[in-house]
Amino acid sequence: MDRRLFLSRLGAGAGVALAVTCLGSCMGGAEPDPSGVPVDFTLDLNQSPNLQSKGGFMVISNVLVARTVQGEYVAATVICSHEQQKKVVYDKAGNNFHCTAHDARFDVNGGGLNAKGSKNLTVYHTALSGSTLRVFSTSL
Ligand code: FES
Repeated sequence: MDRRLFLSRLGAGAGVALAVTCLGSCMGGAEPDPSGVPVDFTLDLNQSPNLQSKGGFMVISNVLVARTVQGEYVAATVICSHEQQKKVVYDKAGNNFHCTAHDARFDVNGGGLNAKGSKNLTVYHTALSGSTLRVFSTSL
């Protein structure tokens, strides 16, 4: 194969690979990520005691993962949209995310519940498979 033919075929292959990658990851509503880093990790719930009871939560690399009082798994950034302090926790009494810096509150879908929370909060998807919980952003 001559060099020109090889490069031509390589270019076509790269285009197809790019299209497949984009179809898999570019569809749907991408969520803004305050850190700019896509989120995608799994947790073994058998090794995560804080998530074994309703109302518990834990933080992994700026991502808050909580088990709501209804038993659902939710995830959000710990970086508050108000002044970017890393003080967001899950408040089981109110079933919402709460920034302890200035009292911003967000529902479990990231919607702001008061003036300090008016910029909403980045939340992530969760998917449970057996005892494995995947936490991921749509921007992957
Ligand atoms: S930084 Fe969170 S409420 Fe101000």
